[in-house]
Amino acid sequence: MKTRPTLRIALLGAVTLGVSTLALHETSILRASAHAQDAAPAPSQSVQPASAAQASPLVQRGEYLARAADCVACHTAPGGKAYAGGLPFKLPFGTMYATNITADRETGIGSWSDDDFVNAVRKGVGKGGKHLYPSMPYTSYTAMSRDDALAIKAYLFSLPAVRQPNRANHLAFPFNQRWSMWFWNLVFLKDRRFQPDPALSAEENRGAYLATALGHCGECHTPRNLAFAMKANRQFAGAELQGWRAWNITPDKRFGVGGWSDAQLADYLAAGHANGRGSAAGPMGEAVENSLQYLTPQDTAALVAYLRKIPAQPGEAGTEVDLQPAPVLASSAWAPGAGDTGGALGKHIFEGACASCHQWNGQGQQTPYAALLGSQAVNDPTGLNVVQVMLHGAHMRVRGQTVFMPVFGRGYSDGELAAVANYVVSHFGGKPGRVTPEAVAKARTAG
Ligand code: HEC
Ligand code: HEC
Ligand code: HEC
Repeated sequence: MKTRPTLRIALLGAVTLGVSTLALHETSILRASAHAQDAAPAPSQSVQPASAAQASPLVQRGEYLARAADCVACHTAPGGKAYAGGLPFKLPFGTMYATNITADRETGIGSWSDDDFVNAVRKGVGKGGKHLYPSMPYTSYTAMSRDDALAIKAYLFSLPAVRQPNRANHLAFPFNQRWSMWFWNLVFLKDRRFQPDPALSAEENRGAYLATALGHCGECHTPRNLAFAMKANRQFAGAELQGWRAWNITPDKRFGVGGWSDAQLADYLAAGHANGRGSAAGPMGEAVENSLQYLTPQDTAALVAYLRKIPAQPGEAGTEVDLQPAPVLASSAWAPGAGDTGGALGKHIFEGACASCHQWNGQGQQTPYAALLGSQAVNDPTGLNVVQVMLHGAHMRVRGQTVFMPVFGRGYSDGELAAVANYVVSHFGGKPGRVTPEAVAKARTAG
């Protein structure tokens, strides 16, 4: 096919700029998570939920949808007012800040029309034609219906307007060139609303809408191409974001969630824990805390139904979950069995720092959330999430209880953390870990 030279140049520009600009995307999403996690605010507490008595049905629907789309995750700074922005996204070439999306007319979006708002959410074009960076996940929200976007607007406008000026971004050239996003959108933004798939049931289509247009699962779980756009043919195949691994959640039996029961999947999404499959930590813990725990049981079931229907994707041999690892079968709650091969230093640290909560048989003491047996994290030889959870701990408010693991990043050297991570993978995953002190050092800078 012949392209006109101007178009070819435009496309070339799009791709080059895309590659450079979009390195920003990965980091920014996870920066947001990292910050929110470190300070562990419970946004649901700081939002004044429109009480059922005073809120109109539209506002109530908007509140539900805003939660399902997790707008609060990025638009609230740690300890800050809900939706008032200010969350820093630290990038290799500068810092950018999420914006105030409360109804304040001067510092927020109080003067925005319906069209201004819908264009920002679905096309990444803010009021006055300002091109947003895709740290704002409009590539997913683009599938949202206008009605749903406007319900979210009605909800945001029902909350107290917060006067808080946006902080100026400090990005180096060429990343400070907003217009360059125009090129990227031209190539990568599929500006298309959600279309029900006739091959799917009504429930599965509802799940598809929840997973894509609202819950933006793919922003974390779908691998990206060189220009950092999500790979459409690898949907939910698993991806790395800022030192964490968002697992393969396709129906593949060996590498995905094909072996999970419906109840396990529903529990994991709605409560952050599935018996026999571990718990949600890091960015997923936040998604459960801020967003997924608020879905109705019907919507959770719809998500599960949809996850069963996407194409299965393979994974890397050696990362399969071992549900009955020999070292665990040989252990009791209070003592490891003979023949542990995970290394003496790691075992020693685990004994002193971890076993009291996790137990040698991985059942979890006091709370089932601390169960490690069957978790993908302890079956990944690179130990990415094992290292991250030690560096940052865990803090998740779910269903009225707090799930907590302390931070171990400060008291231990890179070598010690690598040793304990390898021990955990060997003992609970039944496979040799490959965590190096260098990988731990790298993980420290990623979080
Ligand atoms: C993963 C993080 C993230 C999530 C989730 C997110 N946003 Fe954003 N949003 C951002 C960032 C970062 C910006 C600023 C982008 C820029 O300056 O180019 C932004 C910008 C915006 C803007 C433009 C504001 C302005 O003053 O220009 C609006 C409106 C907005 N978001 C609404 C929403 C809504 C509504 C939701 C939920 C449906 C949402 N956002 C979810 C990160 C996020
Ligand atoms: C902000 C990034 C992010 C978003 C958004 C997100 N996830 Fe996750 N997800 C992760 C990470 C990271 C993990 C690994 C958590 C861990 O190991 O504790 C994970 C784990 C999971 C798991 C467990 C898989 C396993 O094998 O243990 C399931 C299931 C899952 N996510 C489903 C979803 C669904 C469905 C959505 C959308 C509704 C979603 N996630 C949205 C980052 C995300
Ligand atoms: C005070 C109790 C406690 C201690 C001590 C503790 N943990 Fe945890 N750990 C938990 C809880 C609770 C969770 C589940 C957190 C969540 O999902 O939000 C967890 C989660 C984990 C996970 C799963 C991470 C994932 O991505 O799914 C691993 C691995 C882990 N801990 C390893 C360790 C190691 C290694 C140590 C010692 C260095 C340790 N823990 C010490 C309570 C503890």
